[in-house]
Formats: sequence, structure tokens, C-alpha cells
Amino acid sequence: MNIQRIKDFLSGTHQEIDGWFFPLDQLIFYEIFSIQNSLNIGGDVAEIGVYKGKSLVLLSLLKSESQRLLGFDLFDKDYQKITEQNLSAFGTVENVALQKGLTSDLSRRELDALLHTPLRFLHIDAGHEYFEVLEQLELFVPFVSDKALMNRDGLRLCLTRFNICEFHPWRQWPSRDNKTLFKATG
Ligand SMILES: C[S@@+](CC[C@H](N)C(=O)[O-])C[C@H]1O[C@@H](n2cnc3c(N)ncnc32)[C@H](O)[C@@H]1O
Repeated sequence: MNIQRIKDFLSGTHQEIDGWFFPLDQLIFYEIFSIQNSLNIGGDVAEIGVYKGKSLVLLSLLKSESQRLLGFDLFDKDYQKITEQNLSAFGTVENVALQKGLTSDLSRRELDALLHTPLRFLHIDAGHEYFEVLEQLELFVPFVSDKALMNRDGLRLCLTRFNICEFHPWRQWPSRDNKTLFKATG
């Protein structure tokens, strides 16, 4: 973790980056990584839904240098370039890779080539419809470490819109007819 840059991000530089990643979610990310570090939980990190890199920048600072961070997005317009600039200015580009395209076009084989170490953290923040999240969960969950924590669209939204207490163990999952995967509460 790059503590000084993390402090800078949390206390102000996040405001320089356009996006949807709010202070409470930023602190929750920081806490999750701190807990993982204290428990020696390692692994790579992936984010689906980068936009201009606001949450990706913090993830780049929270992971250790040797851990990889993969950011998946359509990268409309010049957003990939903006993300790269934001990483350089406020985060780190060390071991960070951006993948442009629709996640539904990704094959298991392509992901096998991209994701080498089980993920310690998966942030899904792309399309917010149930079918979109489910599709991305089905694609990425096989790559998630048994010890990982997963965040979907900011933990706050996760807690207010979904009850995630009924996750089935990773290994038995995903299953399309598993209606207890997410239980809508609102
Ligand atoms: C809410 S924004 C992400 C916000 C970002 N995490 C932040 O910190 O500001 C959603 C992003 O998901 C991307 N997206 C939506 N559906 C996608 C898909 N199926 N595959 C890849 N990217 C997708 C969009 O291009 C958009 O940039």
C-alpha cells in the first residue's frame, strides 16, 4: 500500500477525477484491503466498470506492487487515455492493465490468459441490471480466491439494494437457477 498517496486520494485528490466512487465507499475499500493485509490475504485485483478510473486509482494504490490490477471497460471516447492519465497522476501504473471491450465478448480462455493469480478483490461496477451483474459474476467468480471479498457497485449500494448474506460457497456457484444469489430487498 502506498499510504501517503492513499491519504492524498482520500483527503482530496479523488475530487480531481470524474466518476462514481464516493467517500464512504473509498473508506470501505481501504478497510477491506487493510483487513486482508493483516490476514496475509494476497492475490490480484479486477475491476469491471472503470469509466475514467476513479475507483481504479485507489485500487492501484491499495494493492501491492507485485499484484496485478486489471480494469475492464468499453472505454468509450477517450476514457482509456484519461484513465491512464489519472493512474499516472494520482495512483500507479505499476502492474495495471486495461482491457477494452464488452465483458460479454470475453471468453473463459481469454480470462485464463489475463488472470493468473486468484483474485483477492473483484469490483463489479458496470451495467447495473440484474442480468448484467449475473453474467459478470458467472464469468469472473471462477477466478476469485476462496478468501476474497467481493464488492458490487459500492458496498453501500450492495447493502441497500441487495442482501448478499445468502451467497453460496464459491465452488458451487454460479448457477443460473440459484435465486438466492441475490435477494432483492427494495
Ligand atoms: C458506473 S461507471 C463506472 C464507475 C467507476 N468505477 C468510477 O469509479 O467512477 C460504469 C462503466 O461500466 C462500463 N460498462 C458498462 N457495461 C459494460 C460491459 N458490459 N463491459 C464493459 N464495460 C461496461 C461503462 O463503459 C462505464 O464506464
